[in-house]
Order: sequence, then C-alpha cells, then structure tokens
Amino acid sequence: MNPGTAPRSVVIGCGGYLPAKVVANRDLESSMETSDDWIVERTGIRQRYIAADGELTSDLAIAASRAALADAGIDASEVDLVVVATTTPDQTFPATATRVQAGLGMVAGIAFDVQAVCSGFVYAMAIADNFLRVGQARTALVIGAETFSRLLDWSDRGSAVLFGDGAGAVLLRAEADPRDGQGRPRGILSTHLHADGRFNEALHTDGGPSSTPGRVGVVKMNGREVFRHAVEKLSSVVEEALAANALAPSQVDWLVPHQANRRIIDGMARKLGLPPERVVVTVDRHANTSAASIPLALWEATRERRFARGDVVLLEAIGGGLTWGACVIRW
Ligand code: UT7
Repeated sequence: MNPGTAPRSVVIGCGGYLPAKVVANRDLESSMETSDDWIVERTGIRQRYIAADGELTSDLAIAASRAALADAGIDASEVDLVVVATTTPDQTFPATATRVQAGLGMVAGIAFDVQAVCSGFVYAMAIADNFLRVGQARTALVIGAETFSRLLDWSDRGSAVLFGDGAGAVLLRAEADPRDGQGRPRGILSTHLHADGRFNEALHTDGGPSSTPGRVGVVKMNGREVFRHAVEKLSSVVEEALAANALAPSQVDWLVPHQANRRIIDGMARKLGLPPERVVVTVDRHANTSAASIPLALWEATRERRFARGDVVLLEAIGGGLTWGACVIRW
C-alpha cells in the first residue's frame, strides 16, 4: 500500500451454502394452523432450508467460506481476520469464528463473532472494514451464518414460518485507493450502524446463558411492531447512507436488503424508485436466515453476474436489539 493513501475494503469473493433439506410452506400446514396462501401473501416466503441434525452453524459457515475462497482464488492462509455474524453459535463460547478458522486450516489471525441478529452481517462488514482501513488486517472473511431453526418455537405460527438456515461469506481485501473504470473510488464507501435497546421486547429470545442457565430460549416477536420499526428505520438509515456519499436514490444500481418480508423489501424499492429487477430477492426461497440473508443474496447475485464494476450496491438490515444499519459499496 502507498504510504499516505487510505486503503479501502474491496469485495474479492462471495460464497454461500444452504442445507440440503427444503421445507415448503405446505409442509408446515400439517403441524400448525397456517397456510401456504397466508405465508406467501403476508411475507413472500414459499420455502426455507433447514439444517440436518448435527449440522452446525460452523459447518454452514465453513462451506460458505470455502466457496468464497474459491471465488476469490485465494488460500485461507491469506486471511488474517474472520468475523462471523451469528445468533446461533455452535457453543456459547468460544466464538464460532474460531471453529471456522480451524476448519479452514488457518493457524493465525484474528477471529471473533458479532451478535446483532438480523443486522449482524452489516455490523460485521462495518467492523471488518474498519480493521482493514486502519491496517490491522489485510484480508477479511466476513460471514453471516445461522441455524436459526434451532431457536424457533414450532408451536408459534407467528414466528416459526418466517425463518430458515444458511450461510453466506464475503472476502474483503484492503486495497490502496481502488478505482472503477471511470476513476471513482470503489469498495466499501461507507457503513452506518444503529441500535436502540429500548425495543428489546419487540424481538428477542426468552432465555440465555445468564438469565436462564441451561436453556437458550426461543424466539419471541411482535411482528407488527417490528414491521413498523423496519419501514421507518430502514428508510432513515438508507437516507443517511445516500446523503453520506452525495448519492441520489436514482444512483443506486442494486438494493440487497435483509430478507425478512417481501412487503418490506418492495416498500424500500419503491421509496428508492428502483425497478424490481434491481432488487436482489431471495426471501421466497430462503425465508429469513437472519445474519446470513444478505451474504446469501450477494452470493446469488454474483453467481448470476448481476453486478457490474462500478455499480452502487446498497445493503440494509434491521433485527433484534433493535439494531439496524446500511452499507454502501461501489462494486
Ligand atoms: O428479521 C428481523 C426482522 N423481522 C421482521 O422484519 C418481521 C416483521 N414483521 C412481519 O414480517 C409481519 O408482521 C409478519 C409476517 C410477522 C406478520 O404479518 P402481519 O400482516 O403483520 O400479520 P399480523 O401479525 O397482524 O397477523 C394477522 C393475522 C392474525 O390473526 P387475527 O389476530 O387477525 O385473527 C394472526 O394470528 O394472521 C394470523 N397469523 C397467521 N395466520 C396463518 C399469524 N401468523 C400466521 C400464520 N398463518 N403463520
């Protein structure tokens, strides 16, 4: 890197992994009072992937990471920072990131987890970006991985139908003053993170190591309240992100939103004036995979070669905490 030139974090590879088992909405009709029609109409979800017994968050994360390393064409030994965003770690400690690190055969570097529920990946990207910008790491593996199905109360139709399992991974590399073909700075342009712990009750688990030793708890959600916060807070963080980069909504090429509900995604796209083909949507097939949803969507979009060099890609998410955030990348 040239001394005096602030590095930027450039995406050099994307990967993903989905468990083999697919559960369609209709498969849920026999075990709870719900219907394919209700789920599709209210959420856009048609199916979700569920991890096999014994298949752990780290297994999903390692598979996604291998795909990202192959995409970037680099070896795991080049990675010096592993950040795993997850709400469903293999163990309460140590961090799932250290299992991923060991699983990839790495013997050095920094590894830790980030807990910001569905905003976890955006938080993890921001943290990794800061590490790279200050020079504390050069190549970061940023993962969102969840076996969220293990936190569900399958007797609660209001939440159980919404979530699924999966993992996505992105490799970031610090590059000195990276530019696109038109000379514009590329890589992560900015990240914007927020939290407001007053809204803990809106979306939480009813247990954890400190409050209910021996029992992790299950998801409790006030769907309507979270929906209302999502519309308001995602709009405001997107406005903040665009203003920080002096971008008009019309200059956003791609929206890669957290995949919780099709209605929330469509609302954001309308607000930005983005046509549906410029919004990456996976919620219909993946359901809500919490921290994994955005990297899985990035994996899908990059496999389909949808992004061109220089495109502005906007990530946004909201989740338990409440936490929310956005990340602007010039591809
Ligand atoms: O990733 C973290 C962020 N999470 C979110 O963004 C989730 C945000 N919230 C949502 O996506 C929506 O609020 C839900 C999809 C969870 C619910 O949709 P809604 O349009 O807000 O429905 P509602 O909660 O107002 O429920 C409407 C009705 C209720 O019946 P009554 O009280 O009107 O008789 C529910 O009991 O739908 C009923 N219902 C169901 N019916 C069939 C709730 N869940 C189901 C279900 N199947 N699975």
